[in-house]
Amino acid sequence: MTATITSISHYLPPDIYPNSYFEKYLDTSDEWIVARTGISERRFIKDGATSDMIVPAAKKCLEKRGLKPKDIDCIIVASVTPDHMFPSTACVVQNKLGAENAWGYDISAACSGFLFALVTAAKLVESGAAKHLLLCGADKMSSIVNFEDRAQAVLFGDGAGVCLIEKSDDPEMGILDSILHIDGSGGPYLNQVAGGSYRPASIETVNNKEHYIYQDGQAVFKAAVVGMADVSLEIMQKNNLTADDIAWLVPHQANLRIITATANRMGLDKEKVMININKYGNTTAGTIPICMSEWLNVGKIHKGDRLVLSSFGAGFTWGSVLLRWNMNE
Ligand code: ACO
Repeated sequence: MTATITSISHYLPPDIYPNSYFEKYLDTSDEWIVARTGISERRFIKDGATSDMIVPAAKKCLEKRGLKPKDIDCIIVASVTPDHMFPSTACVVQNKLGAENAWGYDISAACSGFLFALVTAAKLVESGAAKHLLLCGADKMSSIVNFEDRAQAVLFGDGAGVCLIEKSDDPEMGILDSILHIDGSGGPYLNQVAGGSYRPASIETVNNKEHYIYQDGQAVFKAAVVGMADVSLEIMQKNNLTADDIAWLVPHQANLRIITATANRMGLDKEKVMININKYGNTTAGTIPICMSEWLNVGKIHKGDRLVLSSFGAGFTWGSVLLRWNMNE
């Protein structure tokens, strides 16, 4: 028995911030940002929290499937920008949706959050512990970005992707395989130093800007290029797949150069790679479901398509998932 995505939707805030927005106050340029990252613009939510992006996407997702909030029996939220340290954003979403029959929890795996949550969700559905599971990947990165630091201000955006995970009617379809990794020795290269029990919030932590993202860009880049490309090739080889067997690579959108390196390693043409980093930047746990939702909306994913989902992020966390699309157009 397998589990599968039976509905998917996304939410992006309406307010667009092009590269020229940063050119006005930071020592940066559209040319640098596009050449080094592939990003031209991103969205930031003006009012509201991460749950306020999840809820409209969740409503659309349920509506498409013809389900009501009370039909949901489990909610998983992947995010590094939860509404609060506690209660979980899953609880906030449950309450805002009126999903009175659901339990749920949050998963923290940064840019790999959606993949880690997808695999967990699939296991819950396969075991019969959940039937209609609402899986949310969402981040309000603008709440932790240091907008005075040109090396990170330009990279991130806000957004949410939500899907339903249910039992597959065909065991050859749905979420078929996964390879997931963590390596905590990568922690010092990408993190949020303060605000947790290690370094509780204080005037000093605020003055030191320790509640913002810290990133050693080059160190993360080097690890991401190798990690994401290797794990994507590995899942192909493990399942005896060639590039011809794969309809789409759905890569985490952190840097176009990392995406290109991954596609090259897999021997995939760029026509088979979902790329929207140019429009939205890195929405962390949101990038992969937002890609799939957008591509589905324009009729570019078909029943039976094999998709390889790949990610790399803080932790370090990385992995790939092989799934066979099981939704009718
Ligand atoms: N505009 C102009 N110049 C800039 C900018 C900018 N926005 N940002 C940095 N620079 C400068 C640097 O200061 C440096 O100048 P120097 O040579 O005078 O010191 C120069 O550009 C090169 O800087 P690098 O950091 O070496 O640039 P690089 O090519 O590595 O690109 C980037 C930086 C885009 C951050 C890249 O390293 C990257 O994408 N890293 C990986 C990000 C990632 O995958 N993160 C994981 C997911 S995020 C998560 O999990 C939450």
